[in-house]
Amino acid sequence: MGKDVIIACDFSGTPEVMAFLDNFSGEKLFVKIGMELFYGAGPAIVREIKARGHKIFLDLKLHDIPNTVRKAMSVLSRLDVDMVNVHAAGTKAMMEAAIEGLTRPDGTRPLLIAVTQLTSTSQERMTEDILIDRPIDEVVMHYAKNACEAGLDGVVCSPLEASAVHSACGEKFLTVTPGIRFAGGEVGDQVRVTTPEKAKALGSDFIVVGRPITAADDPVAAYKRCVAEFCDR
Ligand code: C5P
Repeated sequence: MGKDVIIACDFSGTPEVMAFLDNFSGEKLFVKIGMELFYGAGPAIVREIKARGHKIFLDLKLHDIPNTVRKAMSVLSRLDVDMVNVHAAGTKAMMEAAIEGLTRPDGTRPLLIAVTQLTSTSQERMTEDILIDRPIDEVVMHYAKNACEAGLDGVVCSPLEASAVHSACGEKFLTVTPGIRFAGGEVGDQVRVTTPEKAKALGSDFIVVGRPITAADDPVAAYKRCVAEFCDR
């Protein structure tokens, strides 16, 4: 699978996201839609963006009992999204149920990616709030292996973790990596950042880029810079 740039469309409503996408006439993009936009705009936003020929990573991070996740995933699969995700903390049984739900009658399905530990969770909070006392790096790698064993396609992780994930789970297991910033650009609230070029060198399969593109003076030029640094095309 070729490397690709996923644009995080963290806009509050349909008009804002459509106005942003209007900049890219002729480009077929891979866009990430998160909870805020999906819960506000509903499934219509997915159909509208797909109708423009773009791919969609629907970032809803499902985490529930296996039966509920199976049924919810079957609804998302019928929406024809290209990538969806779950929390690996939901267990291997839940991740297997997610794959069952996503698989269409013809055997195809969207890519399924796991979130391991959220980057907002520190070692201290993990230990004290949810009583997981193993080192966070070990937990992240264990969850990645669980996702791989359950048959998922990859994990969301830092580019800095991509190589360890590939060593543990195989080169084909996808690493979808946020925390991307251009050299010399604004870092904002991200802490450990990597340039698109460095992410490529570290083995990321997809970079997820939000504000460096969405808040750029020239979003198309910023997108093209990401593609030039990261993709093989
Ligand atoms: O604007 P920025 O490039 O920081 O956006 C990164 C995107 O990736 C956002 O949608 C953010 O929620 C998401 N993300 C992240 N870090 C994670 C998981 C997801 O930044 N660990």
